[in-house]
Amino acid sequence: MKIKAVIFDLDGVIVTTDDCHYQAWKRVADEEGITFTREVNERLRGVSRMASLEIVLEKAKKSYSDKEKIQLAERKNAYYVELIGKLTKDAILPGVERNLKQLKENGIKVAIGSSSKNTPIILKQIGLADSFDAISDGNNITKSKPEPEVFIKAADMLEIPYEECLVVEDADAGIIAGKAAGMTTLAVNKAKGGNYHYASLDDIDILSIL
Ligand code: BG6
Ligand code: MG
Repeated sequence: MKIKAVIFDLDGVIVTTDDCHYQAWKRVADEEGITFTREVNERLRGVSRMASLEIVLEKAKKSYSDKEKIQLAERKNAYYVELIGKLTKDAILPGVERNLKQLKENGIKVAIGSSSKNTPIILKQIGLADSFDAISDGNNITKSKPEPEVFIKAADMLEIPYEECLVVEDADAGIIAGKAAGMTTLAVNKAKGGNYHYASLDDIDILSIL
């Protein structure tokens, strides 16, 4: 077996936080009189908080200073943290727990590779804080996806060579990042360009493709 570790993206792969991100950005956008739709929200998958803000501001009628942008991002995050504070185990996506169990039982390391700075809060809320061998997230990177840094750091924490890692992603930016890291990629949901593609982790035993 070539693959020794599986690095999972968090939002949209392990847990469904799409609606929380949408509601929080929508609240800020409405307050600022900026049009914000579900389609725009789709473009924020895998993209860092500040890069997401720049996408949201494409529809703004005025320009914002750097200081104002930081305040907008902080406001969005405050609304978002309020919403993810209500997440429970029910937010874990179908097939996740079965796959984690199978991988661990077969000696495959599992890690998180997420752009989110809220990763620790989310994992705690859904009861998976102790389920991973390594957690690489928005708090320990300087370059967000599509840069490979978050996955490189996860593999380094696990001490597994990059070519022996599989990345599971729901965002095009994440698939590009996984490939740039020299890893095999499994795309779920609407992500394109992966070595493998499944609608959801409910449709696959990851172990079977390693
Ligand atoms: C990614 C999400 O996982 O995290 C993005 O797909 C989000 O939509 C990014 O912008 C950053 O999240 P946070 O929690 O640090 O604002
Ligand atoms: Mg994602």
